[in-house]
Amino acid sequence: MTTDPAIRVEGIEKSFGDLHVLRGVDFEVRAGSIFALLGSNGAGKTTLIRILSTLLKADAGTATVYGFDLAAHPDDVRESISLTGQFAAVDEVLTGRENLVLIARLRHLKHPGEVADDLLARFSLTDAGNRRVSTYSGGMRRRLDIAMSLIGNPPIIFLDEPTAGLDPQSRIDVWQTIRQLAGRGTTVLLTTQHLDEAEQLADRIAILHQGTIIQNGTLAELKQLLPPAKVEYIEKQPSLEDIFLALVGSTGGTGTAHDQGGDRTVPAGKESQ
Ligand SMILES: Nc1ncnc2c1ncn2[C@@H]1O[C@H](COP(=O)(O)OP(=O)(O)OP(=O)(O)O)[C@@H](O)[C@H]1O
Ligand SMILES: [Mg+2]
Repeated sequence: MTTDPAIRVEGIEKSFGDLHVLRGVDFEVRAGSIFALLGSNGAGKTTLIRILSTLLKADAGTATVYGFDLAAHPDDVRESISLTGQFAAVDEVLTGRENLVLIARLRHLKHPGEVADDLLARFSLTDAGNRRVSTYSGGMRRRLDIAMSLIGNPPIIFLDEPTAGLDPQSRIDVWQTIRQLAGRGTTVLLTTQHLDEAEQLADRIAILHQGTIIQNGTLAELKQLLPPAKVEYIEKQPSLEDIFLALVGSTGGTGTAHDQGGDRTVPAGKESQ
């Protein structure tokens, strides 16, 4: 017995005028896994996400999301997914809490206030919850945006460049959130231009290039495509990210570097693996 994939994409094509952006895209995403779609600017990542979330129609090809055919059952697809777009979709005039309550009401949840407070706590936004979003930093906005997409516990979430514009600590926070989601059984399809993000998070990585998926595999499989690296003995230098995190502290605000997430803040010269 095989379990059906959470997302199945076959031969998807899309053009804008003369620009043939997607030229036959095929892949499958296993339920409960994190799948990263990697591609450079303009590769068509957002276009594909917009198609899979029913915001845009494909010119050719088929796809099923949570078992529902995209063309035949777009309403069922919409019920099964959430989308966090490349640009945060939060309402600037409302507070963080009001944004969450609004979505919880739109999704007809019973206790919108409780849902909002729970998510504010999960995303470390409780203190900022009653402030207008226009006063939030980019990282806070992004966290709120992801929190909004989790309302109603959709089984599949699409994250279009979830960490674009975030500082290293906020990126790690978002990565942790994404791992937790997958740990609870949510299927995550994310796009990124950052190789390290895919490396850190994804169970499988697909590379979208010139309209098709040119590679699709686990990190270990992708690494085997290149000849093994030469073995060299070098002193391990801290990365700029290690230094940044050690200097600013890894807990975002308290300045201490030794509770959760602190495992990345190794002092210079200490081995981190
Ligand atoms: N509505 C549209 N009308 C015309 N061209 C479009 C439209 N949407 C996207 N495109 C073009 O399609 C191509 C793919 O765009 P898309 O936004 O999907 O790329 P992307 O991989 O998400 O890039 P980025 O990494 O910059 O977000 C680009 O050349 C873009 O200009
Ligand atoms: Mg994009």
